[in-house]
Amino acid sequence: TVELSIRPTTLKQYIGQHKVKENLDIFIRAAKMREEPLDHVLLYGPPGLGKTTLAAIIANEMGVQFRSTSGPAIERAGDLAAILSSLEPGDVLFIDEVHRLPRSVEEVLYPAMEDFFLDIVIGTGPSARSVRIDLPPFTLVGATTRAGLLSAPLRDRFGVLSRLEFYETKDLCSIVERTADIFQTTITTDAAVEVARRSRGTPRIANRLLKRIRDISQVKGEKEISLQTTDQALVMLQVDDAGLDHVDHKLLKGMIDGFKGGPVGLDTIAATIGEESQTIEDVYEPYLLQIGFIQRTPRGRVVTPKAYQHFGLKGKDI
Ligand code: ADE
Repeated sequence: TVELSIRPTTLKQYIGQHKVKENLDIFIRAAKMREEPLDHVLLYGPPGLGKTTLAAIIANEMGVQFRSTSGPAIERAGDLAAILSSLEPGDVLFIDEVHRLPRSVEEVLYPAMEDFFLDIVIGTGPSARSVRIDLPPFTLVGATTRAGLLSAPLRDRFGVLSRLEFYETKDLCSIVERTADIFQTTITTDAAVEVARRSRGTPRIANRLLKRIRDISQVKGEKEISLQTTDQALVMLQVDDAGLDHVDHKLLKGMIDGFKGGPVGLDTIAATIGEESQTIEDVYEPYLLQIGFIQRTPRGRVVTPKAYQHFGLKGKDI
């Protein structure tokens, strides 16, 4: 499907994240020269920046199979054993939300990562015994929104730690133009820049907005996606000039109106606006911190004068 094909499949096609790409390119080439599997890789950073895409690219560049699962999906050691023992030498196993692996599974994973074997306890009580299962060498690619959520022993077993950053507008613009190309539509440069500028540094958001803008442009019978249509679509989609959406607004306005801009604790603000603390922390806060609309202090979150200004309000000094 088009949905799948908008994902780049090689490092060369992958736009942005220059430092991460440059490092991975060297590590992949070295591993291939030695005919060894790549060291385990931890990818961390906010959602939508391309962690899964990069994991699939790593497998593709290494010329091995890509197998994908997630932390919460692996409930028992036996689930992990089944996956690991079905791998072929050198395969990439991608575990999304790797910080959500159950503790009992994590412990089984350590020797698997370090020395490619499993110690599995079979049976219970007096008849219980431990069996050792040798595994094919493999590469674990783990993804998490924050490296700090990982237990220290698990984090220590990754040889490569790569943090994905929010994308610069110029890179996002190239992604929008690339995706438009795959959709077989044309977007003017000023419109592509506008989508890029209002996508919170996040390709997943840029591509989603582009799809909706394309719908509107198509219904209007445009021959290419214009800036005017882009603006109109983004208003319809409740995306403001800084790229902030309805939830960002609820969060910031909630802090301004309910708590005089803070400091306010995460759980308090979450309860007030009816969003999960974890969602605020992983999805909304990172970008608002990045653009300097909120700050974290020991006493809680504060809205900055810059954010007050964005809403046409006079902020208090912080
Ligand atoms: N589509 C989504 N993310 C991308 C990226 N980083 N490079 C190219 N195309 C993409």
